[in-house]
Amino acid sequence: MAQSLPNRISAPPWWQLIQWVADPLRFQDKYSQADGDWFTMRLARLGEVVVLGNPQAIQDLFSQDTKFDVGRGNAIAEPLVGRNSLMLMDGDRHRRERKLLMPPFHGERLHTYAQQIVDITRQVTDRWQLGQPFVARTAMQQISLEMILQIVFGLREGDRYDQLKPLLTAWLDMTDSPLRSSLLFFEFLQQDLGPWSPWGRMKQRQRQVHALLQAEIGDRRAPKQVPGQAPEQAPGTDVLSLMMVARDEAGQPMADEELRDELLTILFAGHETTSTTLAWALYQIHRHPQVYETLIAELDSLGEDASPMAVAQLPYLNAVCQETLRMYPVLPVIFPRIAKEPVQVGGQWFDAETIFMPTIYLVHYRENLYPNAHEFQPERFLARQYSPSEYFPFGGGSRRCLGYALAQLEMKLVLATVLSHCQLALADDRPVKLQRRGFTLAPSGGVPLVMTHRRAAQPCPSSIR
Ligand code: HEM
Repeated sequence: MAQSLPNRISAPPWWQLIQWVADPLRFQDKYSQADGDWFTMRLARLGEVVVLGNPQAIQDLFSQDTKFDVGRGNAIAEPLVGRNSLMLMDGDRHRRERKLLMPPFHGERLHTYAQQIVDITRQVTDRWQLGQPFVARTAMQQISLEMILQIVFGLREGDRYDQLKPLLTAWLDMTDSPLRSSLLFFEFLQQDLGPWSPWGRMKQRQRQVHALLQAEIGDRRAPKQVPGQAPEQAPGTDVLSLMMVARDEAGQPMADEELRDELLTILFAGHETTSTTLAWALYQIHRHPQVYETLIAELDSLGEDASPMAVAQLPYLNAVCQETLRMYPVLPVIFPRIAKEPVQVGGQWFDAETIFMPTIYLVHYRENLYPNAHEFQPERFLARQYSPSEYFPFGGGSRRCLGYALAQLEMKLVLATVLSHCQLALADDRPVKLQRRGFTLAPSGGVPLVMTHRRAAQPCPSSIR
């Protein structure tokens, strides 16, 4: 007998999917208001999914991590990231891969990227012209793509860099609106009818990207040898170099296809997410003069010789980033968790194969946790601490975002660098709304800004200026 799932939505499945793709937040508002903390929806490929907006039930999921599969619920991402992606793995394979990928994104290693982030940001802000509007999201995308190319792929210049950069931008922009995002959700649209069909174009770009990445990996495996000189041995500090020298417990390195798919996973997981969050932060900072003034005073208080890592520890800057991530979850829900055995969640037993999806959005807007939740108030993060199931912009448990530390470092250093150098203003007074962009949510219109002044040198971190 089919188990009874909580608050099943009665609308036809095809209508649920269309609403979900078009506006996942309205969808959640609509059904959570009617059905409280959790409800069950039907998503084409996955089938029925219990959406959880209750921190206690989400805590039950995170604390029973080993009872759930996640990778097989992410199959929808395979056309983008490839079948050897961490996101699609489960069990021992996932644990092994995470161990291999983790070191470049944590601890001391992050410090080595800090100055690069500042320099890349400077290159982009130097191109802004006084009085000329620009779209914040596009500018932030330039910064985060450059960061991924340099820090992750280890590419800075040359033919391969020149080819990859526009290709990746074009590939990522293929799902830049709710309508174009449908391509990822409706299987019947995924027909490769040659370069004139959207899916055909998507696949064509994917093949080109694969070929370029494979060539890069091949070159690194067999470094160019100059006659009469020993081959270069020392690996670079970029993430690809570190991935290539990493070995698992059995002493095995990562295979070429694995390296390629993980590079694309990092690109898809790390690029849109960070640039979108930065655009939202700039939007809110420039809507609230008080926030702007406090932030500038904090940055200026550091004095001239502060290091990027000192900037990263500023409490108000941290609170601004946290509040941005609270109000604007880049993913409307985190990855689906599929029960491998009967589990108790939120005080109720569920059969094996039940699928759960915690919603960042509904939890981050709970008035009992975040009073005046629709207002941007960084101070709330100075006043109290939230538990991992009350605040989880980066997900939780063993699937927590691999790049959460790098993402936060990037956000803080980019904001500090931009605000220290440029006085900006919103170029448009109209409120900006969230809209779907592929699997993520982004600001509609991308937040138009304009530079009103270049800030003169002030007592602020010299390495940031
Ligand atoms: C503001 C920026 C970012 C946000 C909000 C974000 C958010 C998330 C979320 C919500 C998840 C799902 C976690 C879960 O289901 O529990 C995730 C997974 C992931 N993220 Fe991020 N992310 C960001 C930046 C990055 C960056 C910069 C990287 C890479 C350098 C990255 C790499 C990944 C990877 C590889 C996964 C899959 C982890 C796994 O399956 O084990 N993310 N991220």
